[in-house]
Amino acid sequence: MNIYELIKKRRSIRKYEPKEIEQDKLERVLDAARLAPSGKNVQGWKFIVVRDPQRKEQLVDACKGQKFMAEADAAVAVAVNEEEVYQGHGNYMTSFAVDGAIALDHLILAATHEGLGTCWIGAFDENKVREILQVPQPYRIVALTPLGYPAQEGRDRGRKSLDEVVVFETWK
Ligand SMILES: Cc1cc2nc3c(=O)[nH]c(=O)nc-3n(C[C@H](O)[C@H](O)[C@H](O)COP(=O)(O)O)c2cc1C
Repeated sequence: MNIYELIKKRRSIRKYEPKEIEQDKLERVLDAARLAPSGKNVQGWKFIVVRDPQRKEQLVDACKGQKFMAEADAAVAVAVNEEEVYQGHGNYMTSFAVDGAIALDHLILAATHEGLGTCWIGAFDENKVREILQVPQPYRIVALTPLGYPAQEGRDRGRKSLDEVVVFETWK
């Protein structure tokens, strides 16, 4: 599968088999996240892998009742140190959310390559996730994903056409 086929194959997966992820696969997927770029190469992230069934159930509650979080073999949360990041991103923001998002996207694409399913989870209560996973300040939780063998293909949710989203040289 080439990179374009891989990008097309990835879908949000919201149903999982109760099958364990092989250790070597898990390590390859996590390593893809580790290799992601970050502002000034600070790499201020932690990837928290949760496999304990009770803890995953707690995450369901912290993720607005999204039950498939506990179905998958693992849940992964990305936390990024809000203070030790590039502070001048675009001259108006810090890069913690960008760094975390790129790393999680690397993980998600690698997981797709390994035949594993994921689903970006942005609907979560940061305070609850922080407490469950004991994430210290000044780390901020950027996103989570279930990670496991898919029990569905996922649906083609469609995308805008290239014409609608690309301009050349200037906006007009
Ligand atoms: C920032 C962000 C937050 C999201 N939060 C959730 C979520 O909490 N729960 C969920 O089921 N899907 C969530 N999604 C997945 C999107 O709904 C999904 O990516 C989009 O509908 C396109 O579908 P696809 O991923 O299958 O291509 C989120 C995606 C992004 C990028």
